[in-house]
Amino acid sequence: MKVALIGSGKTGSKVLEAHSSTTVFNRSNIPTTQSLAGHDVIISFLPGDAFLELIPTLIETGIPVVTGSTGFKWPSTIDTDLKNNNVAWIHATNFSLGMNLVHQMIGILSKAKSLFLDAEFNIHEVHHTKKLDAPSGTALSWQDWVGSKCEITSERTGDVIGIHELSLNTKNETIFLKHEAKDRGIFAAGALWAAKHITTKNKVSSGLNAFADVILKELK
Ligand SMILES: NC(=O)c1ccc[n+]([C@@H]2O[C@H](COP(=O)([O-])OP(=O)(O)OC[C@H]3O[C@@H](n4cnc5c(N)ncnc54)[C@H](OP(=O)(O)O)[C@@H]3O)[C@@H](O)[C@H]2O)c1
Repeated sequence: MKVALIGSGKTGSKVLEAHSSTTVFNRSNIPTTQSLAGHDVIISFLPGDAFLELIPTLIETGIPVVTGSTGFKWPSTIDTDLKNNNVAWIHATNFSLGMNLVHQMIGILSKAKSLFLDAEFNIHEVHHTKKLDAPSGTALSWQDWVGSKCEITSERTGDVIGIHELSLNTKNETIFLKHEAKDRGIFAAGALWAAKHITTKNKVSSGLNAFADVILKELK
C-alpha cells in the first residue's frame, strides 16, 4: 500500500515509523494533484486550516483519504462532492482503536437522561501547549455521542498527548469515564487500519465515512 502522508509532525511522523512505503508531504514538499498521483491512499495529520484549504486538490486526485485533522468545519457539500466523484474518505477526531469502546460506553452513559431528572455531563480535556484548537475535536465528538450539551473545559500543559474525562453528575452520585493516550502511535495505528480498509475493494462506500461507523460495521 503506497501511502501519501500529509503532515509529518508529532502525529504524522508515527505513521512514517509504522509504514515504510510512505511519501511525506509537509511545508517543504507541498502536495499537488500531480505529486499525489500514483498513491493508493492519502493520510492527513495536517492542522485543520491547512487541510480545509487542500480539500479541492484532494478530491481532484480521486484517491481515498483518511484524515485525522481537527479544528475546522467540514464544507456542507463534502459528502455529496465525494459521492459525485465516487471516492471514499474516512475521518476521525481520534483514531485510537480504544476510542471505539469508549464510544459504546458513552452510548450507555447517555441513557442517564431518561433515568435521572438532574443528570449533567461535563467533559474535561488536557493536551500539550502546541495544540491549536480548543476544545479538542475528541471532546466535541464525545458531546455528540452524549447527545446533549455538555460543559467542556480545556487545559493546555506540557507535552500531554491527550486526556479526556467525562463525568456524569447527579445530586447524589458521579460516574467518571477517562481515556488517556500514552503514545501517538495509537493514532497512526488506527489511521493505517482505516487506510488498509479503505483500499480494500468495496469495503467502504463513497462519501464521507466516520471511523467509528466503519469499525462498528466491521465488528458486526
Ligand atoms: N484524529 C486523531 O487521531 C488525531 C490525533 C492527534 C492529532 N490530531 C490532529 O492532527 C493535526 C496535526 O497534529 P500534530 O500535533 O501532529 O501537529 P504538528 O506536530 O504541528 O504537525 C503538523 C504537520 O503539518 C504540516 N503542515 C502545516 N501546515 C501545512 C501546510 N499549509 N501545507 C503542508 N503541510 C503543512 C507541518 O509541516 P512542517 O513539518 O513542514 O512544519 C507538520 O508536518 C491536528 O489537527 C491535531 O488535532 C488528530
